[in-house]
Amino acid sequence: MPQLKGEIAILGAGAMGLGIAQLFAQKNVSVILYDKFQNILEDALGKIYAQMNELVKQGFITEESIEGVLQNIKTTEDLEEVKNSWLVIEAIPEILELKQELLSQLETICDSTVIFASNTSGLPINMLAEKLEHPERFIGTHFFMPAQVVPLVEVIRNDKTSEQVSNKVMDFFKEIDKKPVLLKKDIPGFIGNRIQHAMAREAISLLEQGIASAEEIDTVVRWSIGVRMLFTGPLEQRDLNGLDVHHHIASYLYKDLENRTEPADLLAKKVANSELGIKTGKGFYEWDENQQKNISQEKNTKMLQLIHWVNQLEK
Ligand SMILES: NC(=O)c1ccc[n+]([C@@H]2O[C@H](COP(=O)([O-])OP(=O)(O)OC[C@H]3O[C@@H](n4cnc5c(N)ncnc54)[C@H](O)[C@@H]3O)[C@@H](O)[C@H]2O)c1
Repeated sequence: MPQLKGEIAILGAGAMGLGIAQLFAQKNVSVILYDKFQNILEDALGKIYAQMNELVKQGFITEESIEGVLQNIKTTEDLEEVKNSWLVIEAIPEILELKQELLSQLETICDSTVIFASNTSGLPINMLAEKLEHPERFIGTHFFMPAQVVPLVEVIRNDKTSEQVSNKVMDFFKEIDKKPVLLKKDIPGFIGNRIQHAMAREAISLLEQGIASAEEIDTVVRWSIGVRMLFTGPLEQRDLNGLDVHHHIASYLYKDLENRTEPADLLAKKVANSELGIKTGKGFYEWDENQQKNISQEKNTKMLQLIHWVNQLEK
């Protein structure tokens, strides 16, 4: 059991909430998982069980450990039950008013020492804190999908978050072997999503212009900058390439890069046609039923193996 003991509440048992719950439970932290709907809670437990079974098949964990992990997760549809947690992380939909309303409701339930966190993908933490009576206990904790696999967590303070709160949250993540990074400033999209969206905006633009197929664009990224990025981030890589070389290329290239301030027409059309990606069977690619059922799990397993291997190399 980690030093920072005690129960943690996760609000919202969707894609992110269930991953965060699994992550903590695997680290022997007690979790209370709350959602408004019983069927979603049952579905979440089923998905966690299936994911753990896959980990057994791949030799990451033993079959006997599954029961212990599942015992660490309680589910509830009653928000009052989160009041004994030391940390409450919300992972409900990315709608400002919905999150603000839930956080205000939480303040009527929990005492002022309980830390509140949001897993928002990029809503400013100051904005989410606007209606709180105790913004000093509120912080952003942005996990990446799937939370039980991807090591990094961005931690973002609002202007009033106390240092004690950010220290406690950072310490906890380190203790459960996550790689937390504390941002110096609250900025929309934080670091990860700003960089991810800059890259996706360019990739969608290249597709829209017919420069290459989706598969070809992905192949270029995966097997060039993708391979390097596990070992060097974009800034370290520039040092290796030479800043003079980068400056020279930037001087002629930046003016040609995609810089639109609204989502691309191609993306808007796909969304309007319900081509939402794997969940509807079509996005930039076509996805058959077997892929819809299995591909995320297969990729998660490969990622876990890769992370394990990189950790070994960097020891
Ligand atoms: N999906 C991702 O890749 C990803 C990655 C990082 C962060 N996020 C962020 O995490 C949050 C959750 O995203 P998700 O993809 O898990 O969404 P999701 O739609 O899969 O899950 C949201 C869950 O919240 C529940 N919910 C809705 N309103 C609620 C309420 N008032 N009280 C309790 N539960 C409620 C829903 O029933 C649902 O189960 C969002 O802020 C999102 O931007 C998502």
